[in-house]
Amino acid sequence: MSLLVTGIGELTTHDDELGTLRDAAVVVDGDRIAWVGPASRAPAADERIDAAGRAVIPGFVDSHAHLVFAGDRAAEFAARMAGEPYTGGGIRTTVAATRAATDDQLRAAAGRLVGEMLRQGTTTVEIKSGYGLSVDEEARCLRIAAELTAETTLLGAHVVPAEYQDRPDDYVALVAGPMLDAAAPYAKWVDVFCERGAFDGDQARTILTAGAKAGLGLRIHANQLTAGPGVRLAVELGAASADHCTHLSDADVDALAGSDTVATLLPGAEFSTRSPYPDARRLLDAGAVVALATDCNPGSSYTSSMPFCVALAVREMGLSPAEALWAATAGGARALRRDDLGVVRPGARADLVLLDAPSFLHLAYRPGVPLISAVLHDGVPT
Ligand code: NIG
Ligand code: FE
Repeated sequence: MSLLVTGIGELTTHDDELGTLRDAAVVVDGDRIAWVGPASRAPAADERIDAAGRAVIPGFVDSHAHLVFAGDRAAEFAARMAGEPYTGGGIRTTVAATRAATDDQLRAAAGRLVGEMLRQGTTTVEIKSGYGLSVDEEARCLRIAAELTAETTLLGAHVVPAEYQDRPDDYVALVAGPMLDAAAPYAKWVDVFCERGAFDGDQARTILTAGAKAGLGLRIHANQLTAGPGVRLAVELGAASADHCTHLSDADVDALAGSDTVATLLPGAEFSTRSPYPDARRLLDAGAVVALATDCNPGSSYTSSMPFCVALAVREMGLSPAEALWAATAGGARALRRDDLGVVRPGARADLVLLDAPSFLHLAYRPGVPLISAVLHDGVPT
């Protein structure tokens, strides 16, 4: 089954050769893009959608989200807005609620968030575990995550659970051994929250090295609250992504710039914890690759909206609208080491977003406005 999307006023391809096209059309064949070019030269197809002059962009690639959990922490958010700092200590509240939930409750809650994301233009989402923190609970959360996405991540090292409080190294050994074994069938990636109060550089290295040996790709929650060793460890171990990157030394920036590790920035977390935003401009000017993601989770960033993150990146982090859109689509694809996402070119996945706007600029120009008029996911209108 082929589908022609024509009458595209402005098409952002993120393909060097195709560039940005006006009065464009795209032909989709099955779940792939088959043809891209001027509407006047478009080949025939079985079906046809008229974009009526709207802008079209690649689907958002949200490369960092924590969607398998129960409960919320709205009271914690309200306390922060009244001046309390964010410490990550609330993670244990969500762990207790998650452990008490049934599979069906977790599945329904995560599925609702994925649906919410899709309606906001996100066609790929990475989903982490991290609110189970035992072998069985982490495997359970990943099994549910794997029903929703191919990009699943073991985050058993989110915090040390209360029952291991006095013997954190035993917990590190559990994560690097039995938990990794139990999670491996459902996980593509392994992640560690490398931070004061969570896991230090040596503990993170132990877990990530074991994960790599088990065939998983690496990602790190790095330098979110303090300028710790996370970013340099990510680069040293060849991680696909170092996430947060809020507190960076010059050496951290240089390390990222000279590497294949993407700096994934999560401005929803700074917004919701009332923290200073990461300096995206400094990273780009140094030559690092930058991605944007939501970090959707009930504690530090309960937004599922990539357009919101794009607007924050433009207004608060020094990115141009074009750089922010790239980071939210092609950048996310790079952070997941996928070359078939975040780009509109023949052979790529047919994930397209039609905007109720003449230009992608409106994503940041009209913040908070529901501009997503239609989404094609794997070639299927949703
Ligand atoms: O990415 N920083 C660690 N993990 C999450 C927050 C988790 C929570 O507070 O529940 C984050 O911000
Ligand atoms: Fe996170």
